[in-house]
Amino acid sequence: MGRIAEEKIQEIRDRVDIVEVVSGYLPLKRSGVNHQGLCPFHQEKSPSFNVNASRQIFHCFGCGVGGNVFSFVMRMEGLSFPDAVRRLGEKVGVEVEEEAVSPAEIRRREVRERLLRVNEAAGAFYHQLLLEDEAGASGRRYLRQRGYAGETVRSFQLGFAPEGWESLATHLAGENFSVEEARMAGLVRPGKQGRGDYDLFRNRLLFPIQDLQGRMVAFGGRVLDDSLPKYINSPETEVYHKGQVLYGLYQARDAMRHSNEALVVEGYFDVLALHRAGFAGAVATCGTALTADHARLLKRYADKVLLIFDEDAAGKQATFRAMDALLPVGLAVSVVAMPAGEDPDSLLKARGEEGFRDCLAAARPVLEVFIEDRLHNNDQSVEGRARAAEQVLERIRLLPGDLERSLYLKRLAALTGLDVELLQSKVRGGHVAPPTVRRAAPPPSPVRATAQETGQTQKYLLRLMLVDDRQRRQVREEGTAKLFLDEFFSSLADYLLSCEDQEGRLPANLIDASLDESQQSLLASLVLQEDQGWADNPEKIFTDCRRAVSNSLLKQRLREIRHLEEEAQRNNDEAAQERYLRERTEINQKLKKKL
Ligand code: GTP
Ligand code: MN
Repeated sequence: MGRIAEEKIQEIRDRVDIVEVVSGYLPLKRSGVNHQGLCPFHQEKSPSFNVNASRQIFHCFGCGVGGNVFSFVMRMEGLSFPDAVRRLGEKVGVEVEEEAVSPAEIRRREVRERLLRVNEAAGAFYHQLLLEDEAGASGRRYLRQRGYAGETVRSFQLGFAPEGWESLATHLAGENFSVEEARMAGLVRPGKQGRGDYDLFRNRLLFPIQDLQGRMVAFGGRVLDDSLPKYINSPETEVYHKGQVLYGLYQARDAMRHSNEALVVEGYFDVLALHRAGFAGAVATCGTALTADHARLLKRYADKVLLIFDEDAAGKQATFRAMDALLPVGLAVSVVAMPAGEDPDSLLKARGEEGFRDCLAAARPVLEVFIEDRLHNNDQSVEGRARAAEQVLERIRLLPGDLERSLYLKRLAALTGLDVELLQSKVRGGHVAPPTVRRAAPPPSPVRATAQETGQTQKYLLRLMLVDDRQRRQVREEGTAKLFLDEFFSSLADYLLSCEDQEGRLPANLIDASLDESQQSLLASLVLQEDQGWADNPEKIFTDCRRAVSNSLLKQRLREIRHLEEEAQRNNDEAAQERYLRERTEINQKLKKKL
């Protein structure tokens, strides 16, 4: 796809009004300088969703989502950024022609168009058969036996491929599709020795795989008995990449958005079963491992993922692979264990909604399950525990939140008996020393207790930068690295500085696509905050921020010294020991004074 020119994006941004766009989805009421409504991204009774016209941003103080008009439409409609731009462009009459579309690209689009059309025609044919045709009777009977009725058939557009070899091939020909088109979609295959093309799916129940617009892009087909293979699937095509599609997402995304939770299961039938039982936020991969693309897709609709895979070795492996894809995008991941031999479909049948709810209630954070698994799979020697810790640390590094990271580090330390500080330094990719078994739990450090508060202070400073040109200049002069302890905040501060115009002022449209979702959200929340408590004493905010950075550097040096001292002790280097002791005392005094 060609890139959309920056000026076009700007033009559309200037013409649309976020209040109007949002009002198209939910009622807004003016409240002070903002407009408020019930958040469409989570369930709430009193409005915490705010839209600000002068800044052209939105933010929900309930669920933390926020951004500009493009991110709103992306989230609401499940669109990519270019598609959201195009959608809004249509609304305000700005045509988005793309830069330099190559002939190959044009050809690719034609292919996609034809693939979508032929899949749609096939899907309609199969669906009709399952709904009412004589040839679909065995499919209907099978579904009924498993307890599914017309409602499921319709909402998932299920179909039935009849017995014969050429039913679909003949039907498509009658609808003026070429043989080439049907082959391209993988729906028919060329016959051997001059015989005509034959259908891929025969005598199977069909699950259409739909994209986010509800268009059919492929099919999965199940036999009606115990014969093998149990499932066959459409091949990958220009419109179907199994690593990028989730079965049932089209039907599940509203529920996900409202509960902020996605259920990920293994089978097509599990999705149907959960849906029918009222757990509508359920999706399955199409018989493949969960990918990073899947993870990003889920993150558009929910912040939490519950994994429900088989309780066997393969299921475990799939669970941990999914974890590796999901954690880096900032999703909270839990594991729902099923009783041995059951999947959600069979469990719901055997124990009903209540039984399933019990399983959900017993969900556990995936990292906890992983830690146990690793400890169980390594021996209990110091080396074994260190090896397990190493594997877990790799995952803890993936966690985007400081708090979560430190929580799991503590837990890992407790379970392995390894020193928590050592684990911490390893996660930072810092100094790596041989593992030591912990002697006594270190007393909670008063300095560390303030870590959360510095987050607040850094936010205050960002807020100052937003509202006061002078304070922003001061930040520029001192340098963001000296003022912001966390990379997350300092990168936002750098961003704000880069937004200034020639006169050193910030533009009205602050949020753009180069910021990630959490950055957009924080910025929006800061802009919309009405609480003025932070503004009392800007100088103090500066001082607190500076101090947090220098304290952190001092503490880092303390940790180094502790290792160096141990080494000096081993080498009987008394001069060095004395030097380190002196430095340590000095640092401790400085830290004490600053508190
Ligand atoms: P039921 O046995 O009818 O309840 O179906 P299920 O969806 O529970 O099937 P199962 O748990 O055996 O498999 C889970 C998923 O793995 C399926 O939904 C398919 O996506 C995939 N799968 C299972 N068997 C096959 C197969 O033979 N071929 C392919 N390509 N995929 C399969
Ligand atoms: Mn099953």
